[in-house]
Amino acid sequence: SGAARPRVTFLGTGYLGATYAICYAELGYEVLGFDVDADKIAKLNSGEVPIHEPGLDELLRRNLAAGRLRFSTDIAETADFGDVHFICVGTPQRADGMGADLSYVEASVTGLAQHLTRKSLIVGKSTVPVGTAEWVEQLVGKHTPSDLGVEVAWSPEFLQEGFAVDDVLRPNRIVVGVKSEWANGMLYAAHKGVFDLAATEDREVPLVVTDFATAELVKVAANAFLATKISFINAMAEVCEAAGGDVTQLARAIGYDPRIGNRFLQAGLGFGGACLPKDIRAFQARAQELGAGEALRFLHEVDLINLRRRTRVLQLSADLLGRRSGPAGPDFSGTRIAVLGATFKPNTDDVRDAPALAVAGLLHKAGADVHVYDPQGAENARRAMPELNYETSMADAVTGADLVCVLTEWADFRNADPVALGELAAGRRVVDGRNCLDATLWTQAGWDYRGM
Ligand code: UGA
Repeated sequence: SGAARPRVTFLGTGYLGATYAICYAELGYEVLGFDVDADKIAKLNSGEVPIHEPGLDELLRRNLAAGRLRFSTDIAETADFGDVHFICVGTPQRADGMGADLSYVEASVTGLAQHLTRKSLIVGKSTVPVGTAEWVEQLVGKHTPSDLGVEVAWSPEFLQEGFAVDDVLRPNRIVVGVKSEWANGMLYAAHKGVFDLAATEDREVPLVVTDFATAELVKVAANAFLATKISFINAMAEVCEAAGGDVTQLARAIGYDPRIGNRFLQAGLGFGGACLPKDIRAFQARAQELGAGEALRFLHEVDLINLRRRTRVLQLSADLLGRRSGPAGPDFSGTRIAVLGATFKPNTDDVRDAPALAVAGLLHKAGADVHVYDPQGAENARRAMPELNYETSMADAVTGADLVCVLTEWADFRNADPVALGELAAGRRVVDGRNCLDATLWTQAGWDYRGM
């Protein structure tokens, strides 16, 4: 082993770590994935991916069979196996609602460091507040003898759920924060599989080599920008609404300017998921601590615009059903509402901070009899919000409904036949929470249609 073809480990086999471990084996590396969760490790070792991610199952089975990939709960074995150790554990929102909880980072780094017996590189991948890499370096120093020369680096990831395999194998850039030539070389070797694949496909993967703080900031800056772009177009939707304009056409028109670009400009129910909402809050909290809070004050507004979208769906629903709003918002008692979509976006089963599920919960609290259908997310949704009714088909959810709310833009919903659904519904009223339906078709089929 060594710099030519380092052996790599991934600590934490959640979304990030499992995907990376599997994809790096696919790139030809010898890989060990570590987690404290014995169930997860047993599943992975038996060829079962614990998350829904297109293409990942097949890669897992192929690489297990090839003997390049293994998963373990043994930290000493993990420490011994790897030349480069990637920290991929979660950094959830703290109980106080703002900053990031670094206890998993601390536990995994400490556990690993205590078992290291040779020079190796520890690379942070988790999304963290700026300054964490320096702190990790100190932790490592405290728990390893200095003559081992264990080093730290930071390399953020940018994978999107639903596209995770491709995002890892074919990233649009690699960013590394390093302090030494040795670490730089080691990390280059650990990424070489990605550069080699790109070369065979006649692509280039840009590499940005920088310091710790910049590497950490790149990640949160990218997510803050994406969140801002979404809230920008949702703010335009509010103005369009007031002025009688069409935000979808507006987005298309401004998006033709390559400086703006047409992606992430889809107005609707706004952003959710495990990353954008928590990252913009943690970023603000960290900037505040650093005395730069004022610079990120706009992110508070980004958050508020985003949360207002949920209330907007309730208002549109109340309008369609002829319900008046009291001081506590509209009352939906006595109505049956079909909610189509529970996940935070299509092609995933992830319901963490999902706007769709949040709205379903609000409708339920306001007295509606809510029937949810989601092609992949029902199981997770039921666990998160057991008080709702979950249906196994779109038709079952829509049958007898006074109102249909489409809250995640699954292809099944976009392509649904409004004539057939109209025959099942008790009332042809639809809120298109993602502006993903063909309004003309639905209107022709007799539906009272409201978009965002
Ligand atoms: C996001 C980033 O896109 C990734 O680059 C990043 O690596 C990841 O977070 C992370 O930090 O790990 P992800 O959470 O998978 O990835 O989801 P996105 O595809 O970014 O979607 C986020 C939310 O924005 C979804 O709820 C989606 O419905 C919403 N969205 C997206 C819109 O409302 N409008 C758009 O135009 C685009």
